[in-house]
Amino acid sequence: MTAALHTSALTSLPLLARGKVRDNYAVGDDRILMVASDRISAFDVIMGEPIPGKGELLTKMALFWFDKLGPNGLNICPIHLTGDAPESVVTAAEVPQVRGRSMLVKRLRPIPVEAVVRGYLAGSGWQEYQASRSVCGVPLPEGLNNASKLPAPIYTPAAKAAVGEHDENITFERTVEMIGLDLATRIRDISIRLYSAAAEIALTKGIIIADTKFEFGLDTDGTLVLMDEVLTPDSSRYWPADSYREGRNPPSYDKQFLRDWLDTATVGGVRWDKTASDRQHLGQIPGSAHAPGGLNVQPGFNPASPR
Ligand SMILES: Nc1ncnc2c1ncn2[C@@H]1O[C@H](COP(=O)(O)OP(=O)(O)OP(=O)(O)O)[C@@H](O)[C@H]1O
Ligand SMILES: [Mg+2]
Repeated sequence: MTAALHTSALTSLPLLARGKVRDNYAVGDDRILMVASDRISAFDVIMGEPIPGKGELLTKMALFWFDKLGPNGLNICPIHLTGDAPESVVTAAEVPQVRGRSMLVKRLRPIPVEAVVRGYLAGSGWQEYQASRSVCGVPLPEGLNNASKLPAPIYTPAAKAAVGEHDENITFERTVEMIGLDLATRIRDISIRLYSAAAEIALTKGIIIADTKFEFGLDTDGTLVLMDEVLTPDSSRYWPADSYREGRNPPSYDKQFLRDWLDTATVGGVRWDKTASDRQHLGQIPGSAHAPGGLNVQPGFNPASPR
């Protein structure tokens, strides 16, 4: 494993944007080099400490799923990979920052809809179900429990938020208003097919994929293309099937451990709260090394004693 990379610093390509995890560089005007850093975020807050190996693992998993679900595999829809080697577009000195953790992709026009598919009730879905017997406007039967498998996977889209903002759950009808019936319907149907196929493959290896989020973009000729990361533990809930029990939070291979830790953490003796005002407050911690827009939890930020 290579040394942890919090923030890439390529100078041979123009930086397009830094996301919570990926640094995107322009390669000409039709491709993007996406470098998955070792940053980890929770509640949309980027932590100051990188996780060694994380970017490489996310990239390997995304490539695995692109291969299984894209034109080389089940061919459910076109994908954004170009097939060109990421190392081929940077200088020799920059190869170590890129190798194993990058994808060289077609530059697409992103569609501002996060295509969330849920096969199980978890997290905010479970909270919402208890209050309304529905999730994001999708009615569900009585009698479901925490972590219950849904009768069939449901599509619960979200509007892609501006940097630093939270994504907002929206109805399918709202996506129709935003992008039109044809595109909204195709995104919904493709997303459900992608999730269902992946969940079936994962289950043969003892893994439950409880839910996931896809992103799509449009090619210059208007083709709908699957982009971004796919089916990584950053964008999906991964549960080990052998310890899954309906009615309780399953142990999970995703970022839940960090969310749980943050739920008991304090800043300056005060419990950290995941609301926007507290995230601002974190940005004001003196000596904060990576605090653009106040989105950072810094070393010295101590977990509280249990509640
Ligand atoms: N082929 C593509 N063409 C254009 N943009 C892409 C493509 N694939 C992914 N992206 C965008 O690149 C960014 C990836 O960075 P990262 O995953 O770190 O973002 P993020 O913090 O999750 O941000 P966001 O909230 O915008 O998803 C995302 O904004 C994603 O929409
Ligand atoms: Mg992302």
